[in-house]
Amino acid sequence: MNNLILKNVKQLIGITENSSIPKKGKAQGEVGTLENAYVVIRNGIIEDFGNMDECPNTELTEHDCTGKLVLPMYFDSHTHLVFAESRSGEMNMRLHGKTYQEIAESGGGILNSAAKLGQMSEQQLYDAAQIRLEQALKQGTGALEIKSGYGLTIEDEMKMLRVIRVLKQISPIPIKATFLGAHALPEEFKNNKDAYMYLVTSEMLPRIAGEGLADYIDIFCETGYFDLNDLKQVIEAGDKHGLKAKVHVNQFSSFGAIKLACEMGALSVDHLEVMKEDDYTALQNSKTIATGLPLCSLFLDIPYTPGRELINRNIPLALASDFNPGSAPSSNLNLAFGLACSQMKLTPEEAFNALTYNASFAMEVQDEVGSIQKGKKANLIITKPANGLEDIPYWFGESIIGSILV
Ligand code: NIG
Ligand code: FE
Repeated sequence: MNNLILKNVKQLIGITENSSIPKKGKAQGEVGTLENAYVVIRNGIIEDFGNMDECPNTELTEHDCTGKLVLPMYFDSHTHLVFAESRSGEMNMRLHGKTYQEIAESGGGILNSAAKLGQMSEQQLYDAAQIRLEQALKQGTGALEIKSGYGLTIEDEMKMLRVIRVLKQISPIPIKATFLGAHALPEEFKNNKDAYMYLVTSEMLPRIAGEGLADYIDIFCETGYFDLNDLKQVIEAGDKHGLKAKVHVNQFSSFGAIKLACEMGALSVDHLEVMKEDDYTALQNSKTIATGLPLCSLFLDIPYTPGRELINRNIPLALASDFNPGSAPSSNLNLAFGLACSQMKLTPEEAFNALTYNASFAMEVQDEVGSIQKGKKANLIITKPANGLEDIPYWFGESIIGSILV
């Protein structure tokens, strides 16, 4: 638990008032900033902050931040951080012209990850995930959501979720768990999707919810994976067990999944690389948070989520890593920040809010973390000497993080 006072902070970035809604439209580009600031941190909580002219005398250890920025850590509201091993072999296949979908059809993809995971013990899975969690933390991630979905059997989905439960216990940052049983159709259900959907919603889910292993429910709603009817079943089943939905939609095609998810009250819809007019309209009329995954777009060389357009249309935008072995083998949100500006045409302020404040709503930790506010956890990034927020996307692929406080 940190007890210290930060002094001479060049810019304290991300100050907010109490608010119960994510930022959208013009507000998405507004960032509360204080120049030449101090921050008092007691027991890991932001107790006070203000201008250096009013800096109190305290007994606390002083940390000089001359020339440096202080901001909330990023919130990664969409990851698949628990997985068996790398699928780097698929990269060569892609370089030889195969698409993500073709690789999956030829025995790679999610089913490949599931086969590997089936052979690993809970301890082995945990050891690998724990190293990835450490790495994400170092890169500035201050809370994260982790999905199951590489198990695809009751035993292995629960194994993944139990690993996430242990990560929650040891982690200095908040973690949320999402049950993604409907991630891909296992080979043995190839001709019987209904039976698999029954397994997911009526056998896996009750046990998982019964043991309190999941906070949310997810489905990969996409051509060749799961359809609108499956999406409806999953969200309904989640409702029955008190799990809100955070769903994979519109990665490769648009066929009404966003509208249905919004109407059914999903917390977030994620991916959104392919968008039609109806998709925007549905989001405009709902409280669902749109989440873009720029590292996936970079890695698979697919379109970026139209972040500029979403913000122009007054839709709250969050950004996350999608960290996974198939479509985004990186948890680096500094890079996501850079891509948000250079590729999605967001301003640094909009990208910052997408990765912090709005992302905290997309995983419901907004009362605890996500901005500079008295009483919130001091999960903070202290940068190296920097000019301003724009230095983060400017040094793309690099990191201007000097240290983190958790
Ligand atoms: O979000 N699209 C579905 N699921 C992951 C990828 C999973 C994988 O390829 O292993 C995603 O991109
Ligand atoms: Fe994903």
